[in-house]
Amino acid sequence: MCGIVGYVGPSSPSSRPLDLTLEGLARLEYRGYDSAGVAVAGAGALAAAKKAGKLANLRGVLEESPLPEGTAAIGHTRWATHGGPTDINAHPHLSEDGRLAVIHNGIIENFAALKAELEAEGVSFSSETDTEAVAHLLSRAYTASGDLSAAMLAVTARLEGAFTLLALHAEQPGTVVAARRNSPLVVGLGEGENFLGSDVAAFISATKEAMEIGQDQVVTLTADAVTVVDAAGQPAEGKRFTVDWDAAAAVKGGFETFMEKEIHDQPKAVADTLLGRHDEAGNLVLDELRVDESVLRGVDKIVVVACGTAAYAGHVAKYAVEHWCRIPVEVELAHEFRYRDPVVNVRTLVVAISQSGETMDTLMAVRHASEQGAKVLAIVNTHGSTIAREADAVLYTHAGPEVAVASTKAFLAQITACYLLGLYLSQVRGYKYPDEVAGYLEELGKLPGKIEQVLEQEEDIKAVARAMQSNTSVLFLGRHVGFPVAMEGALKLKELAYIHAEGFAAGELKHGPIALIEPGQPVFVIVPTPRRPLLHQKVVSNIQEVRARGARTLVIAEEGDESVEEFAEVIFRVPRTPTLMMPLVTVVPLQIFAAELAAAKGLDVDQPRNLAKSVTVE
Ligand code: F6R
Repeated sequence: MCGIVGYVGPSSPSSRPLDLTLEGLARLEYRGYDSAGVAVAGAGALAAAKKAGKLANLRGVLEESPLPEGTAAIGHTRWATHGGPTDINAHPHLSEDGRLAVIHNGIIENFAALKAELEAEGVSFSSETDTEAVAHLLSRAYTASGDLSAAMLAVTARLEGAFTLLALHAEQPGTVVAARRNSPLVVGLGEGENFLGSDVAAFISATKEAMEIGQDQVVTLTADAVTVVDAAGQPAEGKRFTVDWDAAAAVKGGFETFMEKEIHDQPKAVADTLLGRHDEAGNLVLDELRVDESVLRGVDKIVVVACGTAAYAGHVAKYAVEHWCRIPVEVELAHEFRYRDPVVNVRTLVVAISQSGETMDTLMAVRHASEQGAKVLAIVNTHGSTIAREADAVLYTHAGPEVAVASTKAFLAQITACYLLGLYLSQVRGYKYPDEVAGYLEELGKLPGKIEQVLEQEEDIKAVARAMQSNTSVLFLGRHVGFPVAMEGALKLKELAYIHAEGFAAGELKHGPIALIEPGQPVFVIVPTPRRPLLHQKVVSNIQEVRARGARTLVIAEEGDESVEEFAEVIFRVPRTPTLMMPLVTVVPLQIFAAELAAAKGLDVDQPRNLAKSVTVE
């Protein structure tokens, strides 16, 4: 939530700090689009501009009133927390003398006390944000020390809550100072220039060399140096890494929207996530393992913690991991897990699934579990992210940058990684023979081609979606692994097309939801393979039950499954796939459907209202 960019480097016609900052903001706009703003420092002066709404609004302001050139700049794209999405509340926030600018991602929890203290000293606030208090505190600390890094250290020691802060001062036009606690921040290392970003997307077109910034560290950025200190002001080392995302992956590549492109990226996301998973002896391996493998052998329970779409990937994991490893798996929304007293201990493996690796709810669940001795394995897409750093083991998904706010390719990559984890655990625990594991991996290897086959029906799916623009409610039914797919289909439709949608376990229908069915009610049904006759038969009966009450049935069924034809108004076909792996194909028509319906309604598919990617506040 909130995108943050910082840049220090030379100013020339081909490389303008402000342009580079705006470019970074464009890549981070998925993190929030309630407002945007920039500040630039150069030649002893500081100038800033900000505007409510999307980045395009700020660009309009800058065209009308350009800011002077400078050698350091900061930029912010906001998802509003304290204070509505207005021009005044947009970042940056300036000190009273206008010489210092600050941007912030997170929430300052002791803001009210700090504001009261500042007001008692005569400071007048112009915005409703918590960030403005930081601007005033920093300005005072800077006046006292004449050193922006020292001022940042002094101020962050007084702050409670979560923050990434970037500050710029007119008197230090070649420096940006930043600090982080429970909020993301990475450094991009260039030649004669350096970058800061909420994530690496901010600078991947300029450099792939990056550095992680640890908890409570303060970083001082100049064109030639990056200096990191800990909360006590002692020198600290940032961990360097090379970004493996392709800059080209973060552009639309000829598609109308990022989401459409990312739906088409899915075969590659799955294939890349499966790549290079063996050691020389042919055993499956994790990307990072900071505990002895024997710890994983001793695990007697798995708890998956995640939010939203990532949690639905966790539900799929439950079916696969329990079947393959015979370990009980619980799946819990991270924010619920964190605030109860879950039974976890040293024999529990907590699996945290997160595209961003920064979701605050999931991070807090990870810490809650670690405190009780559980080991944490992270399935994340973003290298250098906090959850990846704090986990005991990591399995990276290789979906590449996901820009559309609604998750698609990261979801498929997460499910793929969950299968890998299940097979890995079954191998480590000696439950499955190597040739059995190899057989499942071979099946998984066929999935990218099968997803391509589903994508070939795109135009038919879109035509159905366009014809359903006036619908105000859509239901989704699934059983077994089709249940999380139903929930994901409903979530996609809610968040993109603002249509009321619910995903139900098909077996639950008769226990209540069937009362919702009235003539014309659209119901999507995810049908399992007929090669699981008992399961299949039950779902076909469910289709008949809703159909008998006048529902309009839209069915996702395997190729060659003729039994559904009689009861379905619309059928989308998926290739023959092992039951456990079916979500990788059955969810694709639902993604295309939701995106097209939203586009047909004239909505912003990539940036739905009220949402932001990477929810870094609880
Ligand atoms: C929905 C969506 C969200 C995220 C959720 C978790 O399309 O994208 O529900 O899945 O906010 O985000 P990560 O995976 O970054 O932890």
